[in-house]
Amino acid sequence: MSVSVRGGYDDLASEYYDPTRHPTCANFREASAKVLRDCFLRQPAPRGPLCEVGAGDSVLASLVDAPRARMDNLLITDSSASMLAYSAKWRSRRARLAVADASRLPVPSDSVELLVASLGDPYNEAAFWSEACRVLAPGGRLVFTTPSHEWAWAFRQGDAASETAEFELSDGRRICVPSVIHPIAEQTSMIAAAGMIVARVTDVTLGDIDSARMSPKLLPQRSKSASCLTAFDVFKPRNGPPDD
Ligand SMILES: C[S@@+](CC[C@H](N)C(=O)[O-])C[C@H]1O[C@@H](n2cnc3c(N)ncnc32)[C@H](O)[C@@H]1O
Repeated sequence: MSVSVRGGYDDLASEYYDPTRHPTCANFREASAKVLRDCFLRQPAPRGPLCEVGAGDSVLASLVDAPRARMDNLLITDSSASMLAYSAKWRSRRARLAVADASRLPVPSDSVELLVASLGDPYNEAAFWSEACRVLAPGGRLVFTTPSHEWAWAFRQGDAASETAEFELSDGRRICVPSVIHPIAEQTSMIAAAGMIVARVTDVTLGDIDSARMSPKLLPQRSKSASCLTAFDVFKPRNGPPDD
């Protein structure tokens, strides 16, 4: 058996969205797209600047997609050029694409109306959260999704603090990429420490996912009501960070 080595999303990109090769990624993507769509529809359509971080194949672009809609106000970013290439199709609609780390976004301060981070566990660090707070306009909103801590705890057998996810590639290599998944209370405190407020936490359950394509990694000893993904609907207060 090959040994797992530290890798990055550039190693994974060519097969990341192959549901046969990586059904767990496909299940999480389905869950994330579902909850983001629900969050997006719950609020008035944003008119100001929009930004997606760690986008891969942009979920946000597919949400604002409408016949003939232009996407001049949408910036799609990812630190991996190969993952970002999945969003190249949105250039024809005038979306802008940039290779950028989640902690250094090429965006002016206090400008973004809606920031989306779908499956953002690889960069779920204080540096990302303070950058998110910097770029968001006062009153601006951020929706962050991550595999749930409940799932990570069960799947990583109590070693949820391992902070890595392992992938077996089609060439037989096994690589580990960063994956930081906190319990909800801890995640909420981390967001508050960056100066933002969690308005709503939503769980997607196993029962919400297309069971015909369910990854075995999501199944062991789990009921349909078990959470597999958590979404944090966050906003930046209009009048500066809240008091403790
Ligand atoms: C789990 S994938 C999710 C991709 C996509 N958002 C989706 O929902 O299908 C994580 C993404 O975050 C990107 N990423 C990892 N570390 C990053 C960082 N430090 N800054 C920006 N993007 C990062 C990866 O390249 C990858 O595209």
